Amino acid sequence: MITLREVDAANFNEVINLKRESFQYVGGPEHVLAEAYIYRSDSTAYAICSDGAPVGLVILRDRPEEGYPYSFTGIFIADDQQRKGFGRAAVEAVMQKFRQERLRGEVEIQVHCQNGPALKIYRSCGFREIRRAQWNADFLVMRAKL
Ligand SMILES: CC(C)(COP(=O)(O)OP(=O)(O)OC[C@H]1O[C@@H](n2cnc3c(N)ncnc32)[C@H](O)[C@@H]1OP(=O)(O)O)[C@@H](O)C(=O)NCCC(=O)NCCS
Repeated sequence: MITLREVDAANFNEVINLKRESFQYVGGPEHVLAEAYIYRSDSTAYAICSDGAPVGLVILRDRPEEGYPYSFTGIFIADDQQRKGFGRAAVEAVMQKFRQERLRGEVEIQVHCQNGPALKIYRSCGFREIRRAQWNADFLVMRAKL
């Protein structure tokens, strides 16, 4: 079963050792944790856990500023844990968490237009493309209602 657990002193060593050889689309755990620290005013890093053990990471914008939707970024599943359904289950768990907390009614994300596995997951979780990103037209902005 996939659950989300905030990254803290108890799971930090397991999280920082998650294997990621290619930095395509998302960096390694150290990059993701650094980004979460920079955006700590509205965001939190969560370990994606399978039966309690970290298998990936995601940053949730779970305390969005006034006027902004929920969001998540930096999501990855460790190289040796991919293609087991954990990525889709993690996005479903993120949506469920947002639905329960319900600070906003929508979730907005950005994804590279050639990131096939991620696009497949997002579309099946209800995300639809709304436009190209202004900072880089290779990235799609997608939204889903909760
Ligand atoms: C995107 C990512 C999180 C998916 O995680 P995952 O646990 O491997 O995904 P799942 O096992 O849930 O697979 C979801 C779907 O993608 C497909 N898929 C996953 N990896 C794939 C690959 N390398 N090539 C082709 N299809 C792939 C699966 O077959 C599945 O399709 P299905 O619904 O038809 O069965 C993972 O590939 C990853 O960490 N990628 C690098 C970082 C990244 O791109 N993050 C997203 C940024 S927006």
